[in-house]
Amino acid sequence: MDNTGKDTTEKFVNKIYRYMKNDMPIEVFMAKFNMTTNELYGVIELCKLYGKEIEIVCLDENVKNAKKGDLVFRKGRVKKASSSLSKLSIDDPKLNHNEICVVSDTHFGNNHQQLHLLNDIYQEAYNRGIKTVLHVGDVVDGNYPNRPEQPRQQFLHGFDEQVGYVADMYPEIDGMQTYYILGSHDETHYKNGQATVNAWLNRSRPDMTFLGQDTGEFDVDGVKIVLDHPGGGSAQSLSYKPQKRIEIMEAKYKPKVLLIGHYHKSYAFQYRNVQCIEVPALCDKTQFQQKQGLVNNVGAYFLDIYSDRNGNIQYFEPEEILFGREDMWDEAGKDSKKVKKLKITNGVY
Ligand SMILES: [Fe+2]
Ligand SMILES: [Fe+2]
Repeated sequence: MDNTGKDTTEKFVNKIYRYMKNDMPIEVFMAKFNMTTNELYGVIELCKLYGKEIEIVCLDENVKNAKKGDLVFRKGRVKKASSSLSKLSIDDPKLNHNEICVVSDTHFGNNHQQLHLLNDIYQEAYNRGIKTVLHVGDVVDGNYPNRPEQPRQQFLHGFDEQVGYVADMYPEIDGMQTYYILGSHDETHYKNGQATVNAWLNRSRPDMTFLGQDTGEFDVDGVKIVLDHPGGGSAQSLSYKPQKRIEIMEAKYKPKVLLIGHYHKSYAFQYRNVQCIEVPALCDKTQFQQKQGLVNNVGAYFLDIYSDRNGNIQYFEPEEILFGREDMWDEAGKDSKKVKKLKITNGVY
């Protein structure tokens, strides 16, 4: 186990699985990791042990980046070996099945932003056929008048630069919709001069839908999902604040899934019949966090949800994706200057 509480083998499997793309020739993958065929088959067995479906098929036609006859990867739905339901009931055609990607705290405009990692997550969502992404706030880094050191930590200053960057650079993929709330950092623009991030994104990005400031609701086949960006400081125990939040909710307003941004921590647990996810950030540790001694988890979640016609969850699988130090691009503004926008139209990049 490491300090994220995650089995290191599982972390390795999650990471390696992200690199395996549909229709990627295995030769390309083996060259990238300097792997022999036997090692590759060992890795595939390991992926299967952790519930990740992957197989190797022979292409019967040319596709982008691979040709007929190439051996390529095919990824399937991620399943956990032990679920609360038997496989039989998961395959029940009466159940609704939805896969959703969840991201948070991108802090665009901060020198430590990691747009390339957000792109990786969207690319992975696209590979899996996921159409819905939820963003739990702090889309931009904002401007705090009481933090005079902040401008030095940003490559984009003020509302126009930060929101213009999101409009221009946020991943844009055919058929994929991002639903977002705004958080504490986004709100500074409103407090400074009544500038609202959503008003401008609504005009420029029809693939981005605003759900609310600090909190918002999203419904998928009757399953109520609440997105929450609490503000305020961290608690010692990861689950303490979300538990308090659930305790004060009236039964009829209680969601089935509660997604929490702002803390830049990754944690999934169930409390009083609510599936709770603390969603990690997609920004590296900032100077502010460094000074405060705050932990900063970087990553995202993929949720696999099976629900009945009353909107009750019958099976729930949160898949945590965590990035490590080696994935961050902080030096010499590599992320802010070099990353291209991820745009996919009609399957073309
Ligand atoms: Fe944040
Ligand atoms: Fe925040």
